[in-house]
Amino acid sequence: MAEAAAADMAHVLVFPIPAQGHLNSFLHFSTGLLRAGLHVTFLHTVHNLRRLGAAAREAAAASPRLRFLSIPDGLPDDDPRDVGGIPQLLEGLRTTASAAYRDLLASLPRAGGTADDGFPPVTCVVADGVMPFAWAIAEELGVPAIAYRTVSACSVLAYLSVPKLIELGELPFPEGGNLDEPIRGVPGMEGFLRRRDLPVQCRSLTDTYQDPLLETVVAATVQSRKARALMLNTTASLERASLAHLAREMRDVFAVGPLHAMSPAPAAATSLWRHDDGCLAWLDGQAERSVVYISLGSLTVISHEQFTEFLHGLVAVGYPFLWVLRPDMLGASQGAALKEAVAAAGEGRSCVVPWVPQRDVLRHRAVGCFLTHAGWNSTVEGVVEGVPMVCWPFFADQQVNSRFVGAVWRNGLDMKDVCERDVVEGTVRVAMESSEVRRTARALAEQVERDVGDGGSSALEFKRLVSFIRELSS
Ligand code: UDX
Repeated sequence: MAEAAAADMAHVLVFPIPAQGHLNSFLHFSTGLLRAGLHVTFLHTVHNLRRLGAAAREAAAASPRLRFLSIPDGLPDDDPRDVGGIPQLLEGLRTTASAAYRDLLASLPRAGGTADDGFPPVTCVVADGVMPFAWAIAEELGVPAIAYRTVSACSVLAYLSVPKLIELGELPFPEGGNLDEPIRGVPGMEGFLRRRDLPVQCRSLTDTYQDPLLETVVAATVQSRKARALMLNTTASLERASLAHLAREMRDVFAVGPLHAMSPAPAAATSLWRHDDGCLAWLDGQAERSVVYISLGSLTVISHEQFTEFLHGLVAVGYPFLWVLRPDMLGASQGAALKEAVAAAGEGRSCVVPWVPQRDVLRHRAVGCFLTHAGWNSTVEGVVEGVPMVCWPFFADQQVNSRFVGAVWRNGLDMKDVCERDVVEGTVRVAMESSEVRRTARALAEQVERDVGDGGSSALEFKRLVSFIRELSS
C-alpha cells in the first residue's frame, strides 16, 4: 500500500460489530486507509473502548487522522459477550446501538459541513456487513455506505443462497438425513459442498422452526445488495469463483485481503485480551516445525468432553504444543483446573496461555501446524504464513471455511464434527508430517503474497476501493 503524499478530505467512519475478529479486520482496513491519506473515525462500543484503555488513546495520539468514538452496545457490563450471547449482542446493536449511532452520525459534520476537531466532515461509512441498519441510517442521513463482511466470500455466498436452498428443498434437511449428502444450489460449490459444510444453524431448521441467528445473518447478506458496495477481506486467487458469483448479486464487490498482510504494523491495538509474550520465548526453545499451535479464536466455548478428547489426542501425537485457553472458554469454574490438566498431561512439553500475539506465533519457525476453529481471520493468518492447518469449526462461516481448507485449497485437514482423540491424533500427525500438505500450504502462501504485493490483485483492488471512496466523498 503506497503512502499518500498528503492527507485528503475523505473521512470514513468505520463501524465493526464489537467482536475480536471483526475489530482486527476493521483495524487492518483502517490502517490501509490512513496510509492512503484518508481520515478515519473508528466507532467502538463503550465497553470495548474502556477495555482497550490506554492502547486506544496512545494510538489516536500517534496518528492525527485517526480517532476513536464509542456508543453503548445495549448489554449489561458483566455480560460475558461470548458465542452464547451473539443473538443478544446483535439485538442490542440493532436497538440501543443503532439509536446511538444515528444520533452520533447526525451530530457529526457531514458533506458541506466544516471541520470538527481537525477532522473533515464524514464522507463515507464502512459498516459491518451483519448490521444493515448501519448503512440504511447512513444513507438516510446523506452519507454513502459500504458493507464490509469480515468473513470469506464462500461463506457469504452460502448465506446468500439459503433462500434458494429452501426453494429447492435442500433445506430444511430431512429428519435423520445423512449430513454427508452433497448440496445443490450454492453456485460454484456443487461437487464438494455437503450438508455438514453449510453454516451449522442450517442443521436446526425444520418445517416449523427457523433459526433466528441464521435468519438475521441471511437477511443482512441479502440486504448487502443495497449497500454501495460489498467489501471482503479475501483475495481473488483464493476465492475467484465465489467472488464472481457475488459480483453478479451486489452493486460492486472489492476483494482487498488479506488486509493484515498488506501493512507491516496496525495503526492501533485492538486486542481485548493481554498478549502473553512468554510463549514466544518458549517457542524459541523448541525445534523447527515441532510445535502444534492450538487456538479456537475469541468467542468459542468448549465442553469438558471436547477438551478431554483434544487433550488426549494431542498428548498421544507426541509433539510439544502451545494452547490458547482463554479464561472464559471453558466455563469460569473449570478454567484453572483444566489448565493444570493440560500442563500435567504435556509434562513440560506444553505451554498454556490465555492469549498470544497470534501473527508472531504463526510465523515462528517452531510452529509446525495450526489447530484452528477456522474463523476467517485465523484462516487467512494461517494461509499467509503457509502453516498447515487442522480445522475444527464451531459456528457461522467456520463450517464453509474448513471445507475449503480441506477439499479446495488442501493446505490442511477438516476434522469437522468428529472430536475424538484418535481423530485429533491422526489429523494432527498428517498436518505435521505430510510434505504434500506443507508444500500446498507454502504454495498458497506464495500466491497470496503476490496478491497483496505491488501490482497484485488485492493491492489493485484496495487502490480501486480508495478511489471509489474518494469519488463518493467528492
Ligand atoms: C468471529 C468468528 O468466530 C469467525 O468465524 C468470523 O470469521 C469472525 O468473527 P473469532 O471466532 O474470534 O471471530 O475468530 P477469528 O476470525 O479467527 O478471529 C480471531 C482473531 O483473534 C484473529 O485475528 C487472531 O489473530 C486473534 N487472536 C486469537 C489473537 O490475537 N490471539 C490469540 O491468542 C487468539
